Amino acid sequence: MNTIQDLFEHGLEDIYHAEHQLLDALEELEANTEHDEISQAFSEHREETQDQIKRLEEGFDMFGEPPETEECEGIEGLLEEYEELTSMDPAQEVMEYHNVAAAEKTEHYEIAAYGNLIPLAAQLEMGDAADLLEENLREEQEALDELTGLSEEFEMDSVPAE
Ligand SMILES: [Fe+2]
Repeated sequence: MNTIQDLFEHGLEDIYHAEHQLLDALEELEANTEHDEISQAFSEHREETQDQIKRLEEGFDMFGEPPETEECEGIEGLLEEYEELTSMDPAQEVMEYHNVAAAEKTEHYEIAAYGNLIPLAAQLEMGDAADLLEENLREEQEALDELTGLSEEFEMDSVPAE
């Protein structure tokens, strides 16, 4: 791990793994929500995630490497945190808020990961790969904006304040 190329490849493998984990996680989030708008946001972002995985595979191809995964402990930690609360038998409205909050956290992670990789691709003069990563970054940012809007508007009417 001594070159920008090593660092870039490691980061690509890490986010490639994260996106796969999020495919499953978004399915679970969708199953755990009864709220139409939230459910739709998860389902749309799951479809986008499939495209993101394909773009990453194109990126590996440009790099001349087969797509491989490196365990992404960042996303795994966030998903463990999600499961921790769901195992506490939350009221449905609390669960809804938690679903959106957990998804927002994963978006922040992904945004940081893509934001870190893009300048590395540029330094390696891999402009096409940088463009693909930019596309993923843009989708993550839009997903985050949508989720943030949902959580800001979300009122837990049936949940007591104390
Ligand atoms: Fe993603």
